[in-house]
Amino acid sequence: MDLSVSLGPLRLKNPLIAASGCFGYGVEYADLVDLSTLGAVAVKGLFLEPREGHPPPRIVETPSGMLNAIGLQGIGVRRFVAEMMPDLRRLGATVIVNICGSTRDEYVELARILSDVEGVAALELNISCPNIKEGGIQFGCSLTGTHGVVSAVRKATALPVIPKLTPNVTDVAAFARAAEEAGADAVSLVNTFLAMAIDVETRRPKLSNVMGGLSGPAIRPIAVRMVYECFQSTRLPIVGMGGIASAADALEFAIAGATAVQVGTANFVDPLIWTKLRAGIEDYLGRHGLTRWMDVVGTLDTAGR
Ligand SMILES: Cc1cc2nc3c(=O)[nH]c(=O)nc-3n(C[C@H](O)[C@H](O)[C@H](O)COP(=O)(O)O)c2cc1C
Repeated sequence: MDLSVSLGPLRLKNPLIAASGCFGYGVEYADLVDLSTLGAVAVKGLFLEPREGHPPPRIVETPSGMLNAIGLQGIGVRRFVAEMMPDLRRLGATVIVNICGSTRDEYVELARILSDVEGVAALELNISCPNIKEGGIQFGCSLTGTHGVVSAVRKATALPVIPKLTPNVTDVAAFARAAEEAGADAVSLVNTFLAMAIDVETRRPKLSNVMGGLSGPAIRPIAVRMVYECFQSTRLPIVGMGGIASAADALEFAIAGATAVQVGTANFVDPLIWTKLRAGIEDYLGRHGLTRWMDVVGTLDTAGR
């Protein structure tokens, strides 16, 4: 079976990518998962400087999902390069670095630093970050903010650039088109949905940050719809995610138009999910008389619907 995929210039041996924030820096999982067998590992979002994130409670279980407000805790890009990249290289991981910024210049600086680091395969831009120069609106919630940050990073690096779209917009396809015009190599979607949960006994928000991001199977049908919308209106390869917990879920995204998929929240339930996903995909291809994952991508049949 040929599971290989191309995201613009980035070639992956298979379409299964660990989603940012749900797989640490990859090395934490190395005793359980052979990182070299994954399509790629998208590491936890990095700013230039270390961050502590929000105080607990910062994770809440919800029906078929989870709510988190970690607040982008991280070790900062320099420690990541010095302490994590040597192990990731040794383990044969294909590393996608998820980068975050409070200004456009911060993304550019991160891109410059990471461009010179051996073993970094691509940059995923977490544009669900507040732009402090535009009154705190997230880059990814404004078309000009999205276009601006993607084109600035594009000019600063030769690495593949993959903006990660937020679902907290009305017309996600317009954001995919803005990313395409700005020179992105692919788009990934979706990040988490803005949500909240309340303890009715205490009348207190369950998260210290009051609001957080919803992920897991609860969001999957919305994420699939958004991938399909982007597939219909851009030529960019799409990395789909949102609640994938089985091979059938991954295939659903592929049929809607995703060239590759990321798996996030499911890692908290089953860190050994990867071999099951792969076996399930190969079984599906075999049952359908196919030999390539790409034979499935974008094959939704809407005749008569
Ligand atoms: C605990 C947690 C931390 C996350 N951290 C990041 C992050 O640092 N950067 C990012 O782009 N997305 C982050 N995400 C979003 C996921 O990468 C993914 O887009 C989202 O959870 C939907 O996929 P899933 O339903 O498979 O988890 C995080 C999600 C969770 C649950």
